[in-house]
Amino acid sequence: MENQNKVVTYDLEASEFNWDIAPGKTIEAWGFNKQLPGPELRVNVGDTLVVHLTNHLKEPTMIHWHGLRVPASMDGTGATQKPIVPGEVFEYRFVVPDAGTFWYHSHFNETVQCERGMYGALIVEDQSDPITDGEKVFTIDDMKLDEDNKFTKPGWFVPRVLERHDGREGNTLLINGKENPVIDIHAGQTERWRFINSSSARYFMLSLQGKEFKMIGTDGGLLEHPRIMTKVLITPAARIDIAAGPFNEGETFALESLGYNRGTFLKAKPEKFATVKVGERKPSIAFIPETLRRIVPFASEDAVISRKVKFSEVTSLKHGVDFFVNDEVHMNDKPVKIGELQIWEVSNTSMMDHPFHLHGFFFQVIEENGKAPEYMAWKDTLNLPPKSKIKIAWMPDNRPGTWMYHCHILEHHAAGMMATFEVIDGSKPYEEKPSTHIHHSH
Ligand code: C2O
Ligand code: CU
Ligand code: CU
Repeated sequence: MENQNKVVTYDLEASEFNWDIAPGKTIEAWGFNKQLPGPELRVNVGDTLVVHLTNHLKEPTMIHWHGLRVPASMDGTGATQKPIVPGEVFEYRFVVPDAGTFWYHSHFNETVQCERGMYGALIVEDQSDPITDGEKVFTIDDMKLDEDNKFTKPGWFVPRVLERHDGREGNTLLINGKENPVIDIHAGQTERWRFINSSSARYFMLSLQGKEFKMIGTDGGLLEHPRIMTKVLITPAARIDIAAGPFNEGETFALESLGYNRGTFLKAKPEKFATVKVGERKPSIAFIPETLRRIVPFASEDAVISRKVKFSEVTSLKHGVDFFVNDEVHMNDKPVKIGELQIWEVSNTSMMDHPFHLHGFFFQVIEENGKAPEYMAWKDTLNLPPKSKIKIAWMPDNRPGTWMYHCHILEHHAAGMMATFEVIDGSKPYEEKPSTHIHHSH
């Protein structure tokens, strides 16, 4: 049966509001429709998504559709649109071309707006999705709050340098806007659990207290084959879908993040985010096939590199540390031509991890530190461990305009670890445009 493509409309209102993260624990959130996370947007692949965003904040905002292959004019960044000022309404409208787990978030003053809650899930379904007994979406976040549940300010030199270097990691751990929620699942059943890391800087090493699960998808939708694992790293902005279960009646276990050392000043430790309670046994109709879909490789490991992108970090007297792309901050990279396969070597010369994110296009990892990747996947966010070199392949399709790539640790992005570039029609002469990127002050 063919999908009947629909137009799906949502109204989102950005505002400040009070939000209970736990009984008696209220924070001053910023977000959409007075919910944290914002409303879950759900469409079928091929649908047209229309979002009317009304800004009731006291400052401008914009929404970026993270991972969606939208036209450049809908990408929601300072490079492609004017910020939506208080009182203004903006209409986002685009066809949703891929199934998978995506998310939307503010792309203006992100270190404040995203930290306070301006994000939500965007789920794109397809008829070919595996059959499960249920589905849950988990947005992972942390917030840095003081004793009065107020968002801390970075403060004086040492805490400010620490937050700029490590990124802002909070002491308050949230799943879907709640502290240590209880997650219910029936014994004997298998559910699809979609994880979105919406935190500013936290590396989330997912574990179900050591129980096995099947990883079935990542940023750009399903993998080719399910992978049985007991833990998986979800960097800021990345998504992982798993098939969870079947579990035994009466079991209780933690949904936790194992400590992952990403080269920060402050060291990671294991932390519990939620409690899973397995209830009464129910029959199952779940079926996770051995082949979920095919992913055709763009290029082989030895493909000739067309561009090098280097992430680096340098100690600075003024900021404590500076973050660069190809030795510049907020850099303007060379254009790429529609239809010309891109083979980029993305490297990280620093001593800490950086999650590299490319707007608007999926890429494939074709080589990792000299080795073929373990499996094929469509990615838009990729971890760069210290001293790593990763070759990616991606195809600029016919969506000309200004795009960007950046580190998705929001403090690093704000500090300038980012670049803009044009996707151009190679058959027409190219004229250099002045950058319209908005540099956040900090
Ligand atoms: Cu989640 Cu510039 O993006
Ligand atoms: Cu970074
Ligand atoms: Cu920026």
